[in-house]
Order: sequence, then structure tokens, then C-alpha cells
Amino acid sequence: MHANSRIVTSRQSGPHEDLARRVARALDHPWRKPIADHTRHAFDRAQDWLAAQGRPLLLDAGCGVGLSTRALAARHPDRAVIGVDRSAARLEREHGALPDNALLVRADLVDFWRLALGAGWQPERHYLLYPNPYPKASQLKLRWHGHPVFPAILALGGRLELRSNWALYLEEFALALQHAGEPRPAVVRHDPQGDYLTPFERKYAQSGQPLWRLTATLPHAPQRLP
Ligand SMILES: C[S@@+](CC[C@H](N)C(=O)[O-])C[C@H]1O[C@@H](n2cnc3c(N)ncnc32)[C@H](O)[C@@H]1O
Repeated sequence: MHANSRIVTSRQSGPHEDLARRVARALDHPWRKPIADHTRHAFDRAQDWLAAQGRPLLLDAGCGVGLSTRALAARHPDRAVIGVDRSAARLEREHGALPDNALLVRADLVDFWRLALGAGWQPERHYLLYPNPYPKASQLKLRWHGHPVFPAILALGGRLELRSNWALYLEEFALALQHAGEPRPAVVRHDPQGDYLTPFERKYAQSGQPLWRLTATLPHAPQRLP
């Protein structure tokens, strides 16, 4: 099987020169964007579900059609897996019944993460699998490490795993962790060996693109939110 997904191209040849400033700003200045009602309602439902599960949480942030959420739930039957995506079109795609320990939630992560932190959630594992790259230099603020919500991602803690077909995204994320006082994780090649966790992973791998991975174990630290 072959695919022909294009590689990420960017005029950036190295980490964005504004990265350190943006991370410092996010860590120092409270971000006051109001929480959207629809995400608050979606979060409340997720909260009830998680309480009923009574097991440690794995969070699949930006889960797309939710195949990774299903796969993680199957791999970890003693964990509760929540996949979050803002795209109803993706979430509604029919991919079979959800395992009992999986939940798909339509919500905006920039609000969902802050609500999760406020409610004391402590994901054991937190996946950001193939986030939108936003490769233009002017889009740094849209990448998760350049976004004002970055401190909430850190503060939730747990074993964070990012995968991307754009190494620079992960290099920047690793640097952003360092700017936040964490050890700088290595960015390593990821070879799924045909066992694809997500549709984007499959598409990129079958297009012959190298894939990359970063993992970091972070303390649960709500005080990190300014
Ligand atoms: C490139 S796709 C990857 C999807 C899936 N993880 C995969 O690997 O197949 C990025 C996903 O992130 C979702 N996303 C981007 N920004 C989001 C946000 N603020 N809140 C929730 N989902 C978001 C998009 O809707 C999209 O499904």
C-alpha cells in the first residue's frame, strides 16, 4: 500500500527565534480566554464518565477519527482512554463500537485542557499524535508549544508522547520543555513497523516519510498555570 502525502515544508530551518519568549510569556501571564459553553458541557459529560470508570486516565489529544483511542483502550484494558477532537466530521466517522473503557469527546482542547486541570485530572499518559504542524514561521503561536495553553499541557503532567512527521515541531517542543525548566527530551525516529496507531501515521509512513517521537515524564503541577 502506498500513499502520497506531501512532506511538511517550511522556511524555518531551525527552531523559531521567538520560541523562548513565547514560552516565558505563556508561563508568566495568565491566559483569560473564556471557556466555550459547548466544551464545558462536553467536559462535564467526560468527567462523569471518568468518575464511573474509576481507573487511571490516558488522554488522546487531537484524536481525529479516534482509531488511536480505540487501539489504546484495547491495549490498556485497565485504563480509561479519552480521545478529544474538535472536528465532529472526524469523530462521527464510523469505525465500529467503542470499547467500554474508551470515550470520544468533541471539544476544543484549549478549553478542555484547562477544565481538566481545574478538575484535578492527572493523566497517566497524554498523547499528542501528529498535531497540525502549522509550518509557517508566523504560525508559531498555533503550535502547542507556542500557544498560551502550553502551561496547562505541562501542568497536567504524566507521560507525554508526541509524534510528528516534522522533526522541527518536536525539536521545538523539546526546547520549550527545557525553557520551562524540564529536562530536554530526545527526538527519536519512530518506526511503527506496519503497526500504525493513527491514520496520519499510516498515511505518512506509507508515503515514505520519516516519523519522529518525543516522550517526557512530567510532574502533575497545577501551580505551573500562571
Ligand atoms: C493532523 S490531525 C491528526 C489526527 C490523529 N491524531 C491522527 O494522527 O490520525 C490533527 C487533529 O487535531 C485536531 N485539533 C486541532 N486543533 C484542535 C483543538 N484546538 N481542539 C481539538 N482538536 C484539535 C484536528 O481536528 C485534527 O483531527
